[in-house]
Parts: sequence; C-alpha cells; structure tokens
Amino acid sequence: MTIDLHDYVASIPDFPESGIIFRDVTPLLADAAALKMATHQLAMYAQKQGATVVVAPESRGFLLGTPIAIELGIGFVPARKPGKLPRETVSEHYALEYGSATLEINRDAIKPGDKVVIVDDLLATGGTIAATINLVEKLGGEVVGLGFLIELNALSGRDILKGYDIHALLAYEGE
Ligand code: PRP
Ligand code: MG
Repeated sequence: MTIDLHDYVASIPDFPESGIIFRDVTPLLADAAALKMATHQLAMYAQKQGATVVVAPESRGFLLGTPIAIELGIGFVPARKPGKLPRETVSEHYALEYGSATLEINRDAIKPGDKVVIVDDLLATGGTIAATINLVEKLGGEVVGLGFLIELNALSGRDILKGYDIHALLAYEGE
C-alpha cells in the first residue's frame, strides 16, 4: 500500500486563532507506517547532506530528530526552551508570529566542523529555525541542511533562510 503523508496531517481551521489553519501532525506520529516513512525520508535527506549530528528545537522537533539520528547512527542535540539546560549554554532570542521566544543549546554539544542537519515538524515564518541555525553556527557547526515534515508556503520562511538547503516532505499553500 502506498502511503500519502497528506492523509496523516489534520487541518484544524481557526486554531489557535481565527483565520489560521493549524496543521496537526499527531495522526502521522500515531501511525506506525506513516511515522516510519516520514522519519526514514528525512533520515535519507540528512544522510545525503552528510550530517554528522541532528539538531532539533523543542518540542515537536524532538519527536522527529531522535528517530532520524538513531536511523543514521549519529547523535542528537536538543535546542531547548530557556532554563531547561543546567550546564553552560548559548542562547538566541527570536521573534514569533505573535510575540518572541528563546532557545538554548549546550555549549559543548556542537564542535567546530560538525555537519548539522536541523529538523522540525513545520517551517512557517522560519524564526524558530533561524534561531536554531544561529545557535549551531555560534559553536562552529556547519548547517548542511534543514528538514521538515511540512512547509507553509504562504509564510515565506524560505526567504529568511537563503543559502541553506531546505527539504520539506509536504507543502501547504494556505496558513
Ligand atoms: C511550532 C512548530 C515549529 C515552529 C514553526 O513550534 O513546531 O517549531 O512553530 O514556526 P516558525 O517557522 O514561524 O518559527 P512552537 O513554537 O509552537 O512550539 P512546539 O514545537 O513546542 O509546539
Ligand atoms: Mg516547534
């Protein structure tokens, strides 16, 4: 049976606010075959890009980053919301569609010369991933690719990620 990953994304109108269509990937995560296929496809992308480390932002990125790293036999590094990592960190403050946020990464998690693929469930404005890129690059890592389940074309995240290789398994036109 061929799997179409679109069938495993629930589109919820007017969430979290009016006019926004929320793309919910929990059905994909809950289906063994869809989860295996999606993580495998992103793992093959990361392998093609020559990744030696997978980095993902809290929290939905963690759900994909770890199985990808396991499949490739490489390590996983979390970029966490503030105050969660007890050792020395570097941090990045960034703008969200509504408000702002901070991500932190362990200072010893990335070594100069590491080839990093960053993964997340969704590329919207690109703010989360731009902050994650900055964390990796502050530590001397080379970002060799950005992998997503979903890209929201209307929010033009690609525009602030120029120069980076982007691979999304699914693209949606509307928000
Ligand atoms: C969502 C999503 C992406 C990010 C995309 O995360 O999981 O990480 O927004 O938006 P952007 O491209 O405009 O930055 P959210 O901040 O809602 O947190 P979560 O992963 O913990 O649910
Ligand atoms: Mg997220």
